[in-house]
Amino acid sequence: MKKITKAVFPVAGLGSRFLPATKASPKEMMPVVDKPLIQYAVEEAVAAGITDMVFITGRNKRAIEDHFDTAYEVEAELVARGKDELLRAVQEVIPKYVNCIYIRQHEPLGLGHAVLCAQPVVQDEPFAVILADDLIDNEPPVVAQMVEVFRRYQCSVLAVQDVPRSQTGQYGIVSSTSLEPGVEQVHGMVEKPSPEAAPSTLAVVGRYILTPRIFHHLAQVQAGTGGEIQLTDGIAALLQEEKLLAYRFNGTRYDCGSKLGYLKAQVAYGLKHEDLRDDFAAYLASLK
Ligand code: UTP
Repeated sequence: MKKITKAVFPVAGLGSRFLPATKASPKEMMPVVDKPLIQYAVEEAVAAGITDMVFITGRNKRAIEDHFDTAYEVEAELVARGKDELLRAVQEVIPKYVNCIYIRQHEPLGLGHAVLCAQPVVQDEPFAVILADDLIDNEPPVVAQMVEVFRRYQCSVLAVQDVPRSQTGQYGIVSSTSLEPGVEQVHGMVEKPSPEAAPSTLAVVGRYILTPRIFHHLAQVQAGTGGEIQLTDGIAALLQEEKLLAYRFNGTRYDCGSKLGYLKAQVAYGLKHEDLRDDFAAYLASLK
């Protein structure tokens, strides 16, 4: 019985939709209320029992490394000022037993290439891939839900959700048949099909559990749409030789790679934040 102990966080994209905010720091460091997107993603992995966090970084990687490292100056200053609660927030960014490993993707050659960069660390274990810009709110979090599906089926699992047919061109879309409520067996997968060509409206979002065989296929994939090595193409090849599941997760997803999705996340998390929710709700009500 295999266990998932490693999560891969591809954080080397250009984040061009958020320029100039992403000119000097990665998109995954953008905050939702008071935590950067990457911290929500790492917390989700920790909640699923994952202990090794593998970040695939690009230019501007410093901010992410520093965020998960000890910040002596900040901590000393907070101690001196007696700001205990803030000190705890800084120190508890990541549990001490968690390992952070950083691998550089020298050029942003696509999500598939970013995942392939994790092979030297992941080697022959199944692993999770988490895209921090897909923020998904739920208790238990989505990766924990997927680890449970993996535990029962011992094969790759993709998080999926139904999208409006007009939006199929923004996602990888699967064709599948139901195995049990919420779990489907995937028979085919296409990247960004037009609404007319889409085999279904079931879209793959930013959470994956993959078997290590994916590396073999990613190494063969030719650059596709936009000159990038697509993860979808690697998964489509994996599907030819291994069972692959689609899991309809429980949770509300915010596409923080888009400005509108990011703003929606700020509102939702602001309304949940214990220090802010009442004042923020009153403010939003006053806008009507
Ligand atoms: P996106 O497709 O959202 O691309 O990547 P992007 O570059 O981050 O953003 P836009 O579209 O230019 O605004 C999905 C995820 O894959 C990572 C990104 O960091 C993001 O988390 N990625 C993408 C890489 O790590 N390397 C790549 O070469 C491409």
